[in-house]
Amino acid sequence: MSHDLFEAAKAAMAKAYAPYSKFPVGAALRTEDGRVFAGANVEIASYPEGWCAETTALGHYIMAGGGRITEIAVIAERTAKCSPCGGCRQRLAEFCQPETRLYLCDNSGVVETVTMGEMLPYGFKGDVLK
Ligand code: THU
Repeated sequence: MSHDLFEAAKAAMAKAYAPYSKFPVGAALRTEDGRVFAGANVEIASYPEGWCAETTALGHYIMAGGGRITEIAVIAERTAKCSPCGGCRQRLAEFCQPETRLYLCDNSGVVETVTMGEMLPYGFKGDVLK
């Protein structure tokens, strides 16, 4: 992974709005043409209304026109490996390939590299809706 993806995720984490969990998370996605989209988690006093860093990043990505995602980095201040939640795995998988790499990061860089296929095997696929 190029360092810029990690830096983008880390910079996003610094913007997290997580006053309730105090668990800031940052995520960054890279598209095949090199664009990077980042996001942080956003919490709401009515707890279920908050959303994850990955989801914020996906919103930026969609509004910029989307594209093929090739790499994803996730970082959380309070754990060395923030594994995306089930809902975010499904949301990310919508725009990724099984071979898309996902980097779990700590404050100094990548701790573990996995693929989206490993993260969400046997996930629900939109094909059945066609
Ligand atoms: N969170 C994320 O932003 N991404 C994940 O993959 C896991 C959890 C956030 C949601 C909530 O704001 C906080 O972490 C604690 O659950």
